[in-house]
Amino acid sequence: FARRTLVTAITGATTAALAMGALSAQAAQTVNLGHTLSDSSHYSVGADAFKETLERLSDGEFEVVEHPSGALGGERAMIEGLQIGTVDLVITSTGPLGNFVPETYVLDLPFLFEDYDEARCVLDGEVGQDLLDKMSNHDLVGLAWSENGFRHMTNSQRPVTSPGDAEGLKVRTMENKVHMEAFEQMGVHPTPMAFPEVFTALQQGTVDGQENPITVIVATKFWEVQDHLSLTGHVYSPAVVLGSPILLDGLSEEQRGWFEQAAQASAEATREEVSRLESEGVELLREKGMTVETDIDKAPFQEAVKPAYQIYTDQYGSEMLDRVRASD
Ligand code: PAF
Repeated sequence: FARRTLVTAITGATTAALAMGALSAQAAQTVNLGHTLSDSSHYSVGADAFKETLERLSDGEFEVVEHPSGALGGERAMIEGLQIGTVDLVITSTGPLGNFVPETYVLDLPFLFEDYDEARCVLDGEVGQDLLDKMSNHDLVGLAWSENGFRHMTNSQRPVTSPGDAEGLKVRTMENKVHMEAFEQMGVHPTPMAFPEVFTALQQGTVDGQENPITVIVATKFWEVQDHLSLTGHVYSPAVVLGSPILLDGLSEEQRGWFEQAAQASAEATREEVSRLESEGVELLREKGMTVETDIDKAPFQEAVKPAYQIYTDQYGSEMLDRVRASD
């Protein structure tokens, strides 16, 4: 009898434990976080920080499942997914964002920011918060400004140290009309394309070059298909942690606070990784065989892209641009 009681007690306890486990597993709400870069990239560092922070703050109420490498589509497709609720969270550059939130186009103007400190200061200040707030008018929730980095040009044809060298090159750009306009002014043929298609397009020679921060060039192993890198730093590329209103608007204030803190932690971790790779990445790319042009006189590039500012203000006015300039 005693043995049977013991067995029954153990079985009962095990069943109860399993049931509790199943219950808590059921209670964890899965949220899907997508980005387009590899799982060794700065975006993945940010995604890991988001996951760790949200799961810790919510004590397991939410479980974050990361989808790197464009598994949920390119950035434009993922932003659409947020609007209709098929994607919960995205880390994206502002590349395609202006198509949804035109106010953010101001950040894509070439040579707007001098350095990382200036860009981070503007994004962490009033202008950055205002832009995040504006996203709710476009069925998106802006959680935090993160970072992609200053963009540099790579190509398979020749070293580029002046706009004249870049003239005639077919360069993949983001699906962003401010960037495309600037490249056209430089005499480059801009070819907008979603990022998941870029490596193959470079490999097959559909385009000669692309432009991205060192972090991306390293994470995507562009040295395999591009011989020349020029540190043009022609535009600062912010990233942003975005959420779907369909998920976030249904949360309590406390829960939403956890998401905001997780996004902040994600942005901080990403910026740290960008800073680290910015200094170490160039050396790695040299070792991988790329020629690296470091001695770039930016003045002729700045001069070449100047008309892009006029085209921007003609369409969107100068208020946002003036505010950015006043706050850096
Ligand atoms: O080139 C792009 O589309 C973006 O910089 C990337 C690589 C997707 C990161 O946001």
